[in-house]
Amino acid sequence: MIKTAVMGYGTIGSGVAEILEENRDVIAGQAGQEVELKYVLDLREFPDSPVADKIIHDFKILEEDPEIQIVVETMGGLNPAYPFVKACLMAGKHVVTSNKALVAAHGTELLAIARKKKVNFLFEASVGGGIPIIRPLYRCLMGERIEEITGILNGTTNYILTKMDKEGETFENALKEAQNLGYAERNPEADVEGHDTCRKIAILTAMATGKEVNYEDIYTEGITGITDIDFKYAEKMGASVKLFGTSRMKDGKVNAYVAPVMIGNSHPLCSVNDVFNGIMVRGNMLGVSMFYGSGAGKLPTASAVIADIIEAAQNLKKNVPMGWSSERQTVEPMEKTRF
Ligand code: HSE
Repeated sequence: MIKTAVMGYGTIGSGVAEILEENRDVIAGQAGQEVELKYVLDLREFPDSPVADKIIHDFKILEEDPEIQIVVETMGGLNPAYPFVKACLMAGKHVVTSNKALVAAHGTELLAIARKKKVNFLFEASVGGGIPIIRPLYRCLMGERIEEITGILNGTTNYILTKMDKEGETFENALKEAQNLGYAERNPEADVEGHDTCRKIAILTAMATGKEVNYEDIYTEGITGITDIDFKYAEKMGASVKLFGTSRMKDGKVNAYVAPVMIGNSHPLCSVNDVFNGIMVRGNMLGVSMFYGSGAGKLPTASAVIADIIEAAQNLKKNVPMGWSSERQTVEPMEKTRF
């Protein structure tokens, strides 16, 4: 039996606990043994929850428990997620995270520690919620030269834009709904100002190039300036307004941006509405492949975390080659593309 601990019992952490129970047999079948949740680290108590007896408040308990082989980080933000994750890897524990802020800011260092310690640092859930995108990049598309990644990478903003466009909702009401549905970040500024999309396109670009990408190099504009008038113009032009994260790679150079764009109604990403995300990947031999699905939310995102727990369980004694090196990939700005 493999024992695991979840750090952070919010939307995603509680989803992970739920799936570990609900899909216990499927997970055991794939992992080769049962995966048991031993601890849930959170500052709060959850007296009526199924994990009430697993709650701990002291990180040291899980860090120093040799039975804990896989740690799930779903706290979000950098502090204390970063020191906790680093300490777990240093202690020889595998770490699975949904935290894109952590992966974008410290992924290079954490991947290097994981390689050195022969454990795994996995982050499928950090981009695209439940959509498989990280694993396809390092497994299925490993023989490709990736030339472009363009996507709707934030469920909250796509939900807001859809509600404003199709139902005439105000920005404020649509954001409140997205928060109530558990899509938005703790500080929704990260969603609406485009920072969440920026971190995600930085992670995907690093996966595609195999080199570290500084997300601060990516030109980033959110959706707070979008009004009724933009939707009216878009409609007249047979187009829609979407928040894109785009990265183009050619001859060792990378150009990237995050910004709202108008895309024609025949564009494959135009029909990606509500909380859904869509990611187009162009490879030099592949042509274009599109990944589509639930981009945020409790169970879809937790499902991606569970797949990483299984991958770690299948590779308890070795590091799975994935991620990027510490070599820095420079990123130049790119003119917005309007279709
Ligand atoms: N706030 C994020 C989003 C959560 O809306 O896409 C999933 O990464």
